[in-house]
Amino acid sequence: MRYRGREVGGEGRVNLVMESTLTARDRMGVQDFVLLENYTSEAAFIENLRRRFGENLIYTYIGSVLVSVNPNKDLEIYSKVHMERYRGVSFYEISPHIFAVSDNTYRAMRTERRDQCILISGESGAGKTEASKKILQYYATTCPVTDHMSTLRDRLLQSNPVLEAFGNAKTLRNDNSSRFGKYMDVQFDFRGASIGGHILNYLLEKSRVVHQNHGERNFHIFYQLLEGGKQDLLSKLGLERNAQKYQYLVKGCCPRVSSINDKNDWKTVRKALTIIGLREDEVEDLWNIIASVLHLGNTQFGEGENGENQITTEPQLKYLSKLLGVDGAALREALTHKKLTAKGEEMISPLSFEQAVAARDALAKAVYGRTFTWLVVKINQSLAFKDEVYNSSKGSSSVIGLLDIYGFEVFQHNSFEQFCINYCNEKLQQLFIELTLKSEQEEYKAEGITWEPVKYFDNKNICDLVEEKHKGFISILDEECLRPGEPSDISFLKKLEDTLGGHAHFVTHKLANGKTRKAVGREEFRLIHYAGEVNYTVNGFLDKNNDLLYRNLKEVICQSDNQVLSQCFHREEVTDQKRPETAATQFKNSLAKLIEILMSKEPSYVRCIKPNDAKQSGRFDEALVRHQVKYLGLMENLRVRRAGFAYRRCYEAFLQRYKSLCPGTWPNWEGRLADGVTTLVQHLGYKPEEYKLGKTKIFIRYPKTLFSTEDALEARRPALVLTLQTSWRGYRERAKYHRIRQAVLVIQSAWRGMKSRQRTRRRRHAVDIIRKFIKGFIYRHYERCPENEYFLDHQRFSFLMTLASEHLCMLCMQNMMWAYCRRIQPEWKKQMEQKVLASQIFKHQKDSYPQSVPKLFVASRLNSEEFKVIPTLGNDKVKYGVTVTKYDRRGYKARPRQLLLTSSFAMLVSEAKLKQRIDYAALRSISVSSLSDGFMVLHVASEDNKQKSDVVLQCDHVIEVVTKLATMADKKNKVNMSQDSITFAVARGKEGVIDFTSGPELKVAKGKKGHLLVTAPKLNP
Ligand SMILES: Nc1ncnc2c1ncn2[C@@H]1O[C@H](COP(=O)(O)OP(=O)(O)OP(=O)(O)O)[C@@H](O)[C@H]1O
Ligand SMILES: [Mg+2]
Repeated sequence: MRYRGREVGGEGRVNLVMESTLTARDRMGVQDFVLLENYTSEAAFIENLRRRFGENLIYTYIGSVLVSVNPNKDLEIYSKVHMERYRGVSFYEISPHIFAVSDNTYRAMRTERRDQCILISGESGAGKTEASKKILQYYATTCPVTDHMSTLRDRLLQSNPVLEAFGNAKTLRNDNSSRFGKYMDVQFDFRGASIGGHILNYLLEKSRVVHQNHGERNFHIFYQLLEGGKQDLLSKLGLERNAQKYQYLVKGCCPRVSSINDKNDWKTVRKALTIIGLREDEVEDLWNIIASVLHLGNTQFGEGENGENQITTEPQLKYLSKLLGVDGAALREALTHKKLTAKGEEMISPLSFEQAVAARDALAKAVYGRTFTWLVVKINQSLAFKDEVYNSSKGSSSVIGLLDIYGFEVFQHNSFEQFCINYCNEKLQQLFIELTLKSEQEEYKAEGITWEPVKYFDNKNICDLVEEKHKGFISILDEECLRPGEPSDISFLKKLEDTLGGHAHFVTHKLANGKTRKAVGREEFRLIHYAGEVNYTVNGFLDKNNDLLYRNLKEVICQSDNQVLSQCFHREEVTDQKRPETAATQFKNSLAKLIEILMSKEPSYVRCIKPNDAKQSGRFDEALVRHQVKYLGLMENLRVRRAGFAYRRCYEAFLQRYKSLCPGTWPNWEGRLADGVTTLVQHLGYKPEEYKLGKTKIFIRYPKTLFSTEDALEARRPALVLTLQTSWRGYRERAKYHRIRQAVLVIQSAWRGMKSRQRTRRRRHAVDIIRKFIKGFIYRHYERCPENEYFLDHQRFSFLMTLASEHLCMLCMQNMMWAYCRRIQPEWKKQMEQKVLASQIFKHQKDSYPQSVPKLFVASRLNSEEFKVIPTLGNDKVKYGVTVTKYDRRGYKARPRQLLLTSSFAMLVSEAKLKQRIDYAALRSISVSSLSDGFMVLHVASEDNKQKSDVVLQCDHVIEVVTKLATMADKKNKVNMSQDSITFAVARGKEGVIDFTSGPELKVAKGKKGHLLVTAPKLNP
């Protein structure tokens, strides 16, 4: 067989959490008590619980048993995401949780097709009901549903608020204490969908209806009705919106509780009643009964005129007869008289005040108790998928049972109720130990490992003490109740002493020796339960066991028009002469049935612990917890579980977790799983006494062996993580590369295809044309016909095109030019003309020309204010002025001047004085260098005496000045461009020379032979 590691990771997937490192273990404790080294130490057990509780880890396993400590605060661990995380994951792979138990039970039911049950126990306020609700929610959320099933799912969930309203109350221990035991079956079909449900209820605490201890309340429904019921409803029921007005609600002096919102709860219950399918008339009758209980509480008795005992509260009686649907006079009679049958004759005898009060209370309890049972029946009807299916679990459906039942109770004063509850726990403990041992033994047997007998405390003799026929506690109680004569609680105690005296687990004041005697009162007896000793007060045992309602009261109620009551009190009850079963016997029988039900199923356990009495979060009261650990039998449970091997795990899971610790099993083991585990443990150096190999599991004897393996894994983890990361990244990149490559290939082939198709189309087109051409050529001398028309057209077209194209081109250019010229502004036109002239003169001639092109020519570089002062202008106006530097012809002294141009002459001016006038007629030519300098020489006709000789000027805007001067003087063709030097005339036939050379910067200096040497930088290559 080839074994491959399971995939791990992803959202909500297996999260392998084992608090493995030593530091984590020190801080958070171990998640399974079987891993406690010192497993026999109660202190170590409690310390482990305390550490985990401190870290908000409220769940811990003892093997497959879940221990839960009530956090008394909302922990964010019950969301849908958490549910998903636990779904389908093996019990041990993930931290302990109620969802893990739920899921494991569900999967066991589906795979093994065996009915399951989850037993939830713990003392009041330990979180049993919350746990059972969490389990139901888990199934409601994670199991498959159809339309029909979603209705059922709602009903299953909604049965809780209804039962809690009628069966829960605020007690000193718990604001929402369940005052009845509950066993609920959820039925699943072959697909694993819930298809039905059934509830069994046990021993409702009816005495609460008429009396509550200080600080406690009656059942929630009374307060919900008064707080939430509409005014119309209350008026109809004759009620006032004030709980203080009702005798049955004031005993505990606690009408309001901060953690309870009766008004909102009323709405929830009203809705839930509809969802579970109660008709409106039934609901109405239900309120009538609840109201009548309150009226009964307010029904008072007093002495009449003749000294007889009579009802003194008439309005209450009127409401009672209306709400209970009975005859008022008959009810009055029944509440104050009793019917006796002596020697076959019926006699009516009046009741004393105390008797009447007791009869009234008995009626209230009976009515409420039976109504509660009726509600359970109704809920069962609404949850039933098909009765026959429910009754035969052999069909295709399977069942998961949830038992939320009262835990062991020890109060200051313990009575009949505590006796029943503790007896129930004694039976469940017996079942628990038996089944735990049995399952241990079965597991060893299945795995082929020798079973070593385990010693455990067998509480069978305590159970026998209570329930044995004829000799047991309950038989004696029943006998005393039925005995003619004057049986009393004290005579019952005596009988107990006579019959049970000498039993190791039964003690009374009389039977006890000196030390114990002090601890047991004269009207008490002590039972030594598996969980500890409990003293019970014998007072009230007989009455509570009889639970009698006077016959005439029963007769009246049996006549009731109220539908609910008529279903609760059958008429045959009155005619039936057989004595009804006593409360203890009823309880014993229902318990026996429950044990039978549980025995037929595979059990899982949730043991709830209350960390403190104050309902506070974060407080861990060690003494209180120790007490619960003791009476929940957790140490005994751990001892049994650890008797052989501390830890066991199926080969696959073990190999999956630790395979990386051995080169032989890493990364994958290819052979049989058992061989893989053998290779692994041998590599890890396990000693033979430390472990055993079963058929499918490895058993490890000591926790320290497992811890050292865990620590080795922890040390190995960084390397593993690195390997995983590397492989993952490699895989991811490879996958990405393949994806990209694939995409590239697709794009390439599509592109090539497209290109080829295009080429083919073009070629085909070309071939067609060539073919047409050849044909046309062959037929060119024929008349126009289809064969030659293309050829002829083409010939004509190309001829015309050649002819016309040059012409058209020119025309087009002209046209564009005209269009441009038409749009042009006069100033711009002038500018363009000047620029065109500059281009003609300087383009490719002067180095500084390209840089001058983008600079626009301006009208004048000097403004008119600067040359207005000149007196000799006559009619001429200065059209352009610019600042220049004039160089003397001899000595080349530089002098600042203004060069002004008019329409007929140019002049050089200095400080408003005319220095030189050059008529345009006398201007022969203008010389400039080809370099980037700004020198220009104006050559003047020497024969004209009026004129001085040539002028050497330098100007920053030489191209602009020369262009303007050439235009105004009309000397466009007289501009010379000189490469190396310019020769100019000095007075009296002498000549001067300016030499031009290229250099890094503009420099003007006197050179050799009296020349002026101008160096100019090269601007353009
Ligand atoms: N897992 C939990 N998370 C948060 N709060 C919880 C949890 N379990 C219990 N509680 C709190 O403790 C209170 C008592 O719990 P619950 O009613 O389940 O106790 P119980 O064991 O059913 O007691 P009783 O025997 O009196 O019915 C709850 O109302 C709730 O406030
Ligand atoms: Mg409860």
